[in-house]
Amino acid sequence: MLRRLGKSDLMVHPIGLGLWPIAGMTSLQVSEADSRATIEAALDCGLNFFDTAYCYGVDGISERLLGQVAREHRDRMVIATKGGVHWDARLDRVNDASPQRLEMELTESLRRLGLPAVDLLYLHSPDQVTPIAESAAAMARFQAAGKARLIGVSNVNLSQLQQFHKVCPVTVVQLKYNMLQREIEQEIIPWCQQQGVSVVAYWPLMKGLLAGKLRRGHRFDPADKRVTYPMFLGRQWEWNQQFLDRLDLIAIDAGISLITLVLGWTISQPGITAVLCGAKRPWQIQESAEAVHWTPSAAVLEQVNEAIRERTAQERVV
Ligand SMILES: NC(=O)c1ccc[n+]([C@@H]2O[C@H](COP(=O)([O-])OP(=O)(O)OC[C@H]3O[C@@H](n4cnc5c(N)ncnc54)[C@H](OP(=O)(O)O)[C@@H]3O)[C@@H](O)[C@H]2O)c1
Repeated sequence: MLRRLGKSDLMVHPIGLGLWPIAGMTSLQVSEADSRATIEAALDCGLNFFDTAYCYGVDGISERLLGQVAREHRDRMVIATKGGVHWDARLDRVNDASPQRLEMELTESLRRLGLPAVDLLYLHSPDQVTPIAESAAAMARFQAAGKARLIGVSNVNLSQLQQFHKVCPVTVVQLKYNMLQREIEQEIIPWCQQQGVSVVAYWPLMKGLLAGKLRRGHRFDPADKRVTYPMFLGRQWEWNQQFLDRLDLIAIDAGISLITLVLGWTISQPGITAVLCGAKRPWQIQESAEAVHWTPSAAVLEQVNEAIRERTAQERVV
């Protein structure tokens, strides 16, 4: 069931726990106790891949909580963090991938995690001014210094990925990918397959939409920032509801839950090594973890692909 990260000797579960929601930046009603319980529930389900970042949560709450759990269970965890994005005093996002900033953030991340090194360190995002080769050279130095076993990169286009890879060979690329957001299939996945680089997908549940519990009539709390994302608004929201209705029927027919259908489809796509599922309660990651116990048949995959084709065609008509 475990899958290899790139050409390395590190093996990960295809469902990883994404630690963005537990940082409480855009999710509501998150407590430290629930967050710790969620990380521990992931371990209890047999998951071993944990994804955080320097910028997840005010004062690095996400890395600190992960570090607390790692104190007891380090040998069962593959820990990934990212550097290159932080929040300014007004909590606006700042991309700074300069070598000095990356070094400062890595030092702080390791302190919060209580670790001498992470298994995987990503450049979270290139910035507008630092040449990506400079960011890559810094990441290569961190790896040579033993502070990161493997290097990854996130939120890049193909050209940026290739430039980075030339200076600092990457093992993993982390990008957005789910049933309705499949842009990386065009160029990045084929290149990664050719190079033996793993693709780890974020937003497999499309911020909870594809978990299937946000349905017509759902009243979003005004503080829930998801209402600002296009997929939760207007015509797209209704089309997405119709898509979910269709997936429901396929899932019922196959005798599985909707979330198993969604994640099972995603982890069986060519070139996808793992998906990062966000969760802020134990039951959520327990439901997501179930997906690995289902192997989709060619017939079910085709039914899903047909539903996706029809949903995608709606966008083109506009
Ligand atoms: N590299 C990057 O720039 C980048 C960007 C985004 C994300 N990521 C990584 O990818 C991970 C995944 O992204 P994400 O957390 O934003 O989104 P996601 O995994 O697509 O969706 C997570 C949300 O789905 C809902 N959910 C999860 N399981 C559920 C279940 N069983 N039933 C009902 N709802 C469920 C929860 O929301 P509610 O309970 O609030 O409804 C949860 O917060 C992140 O945590 C992070 O590690 C990386």
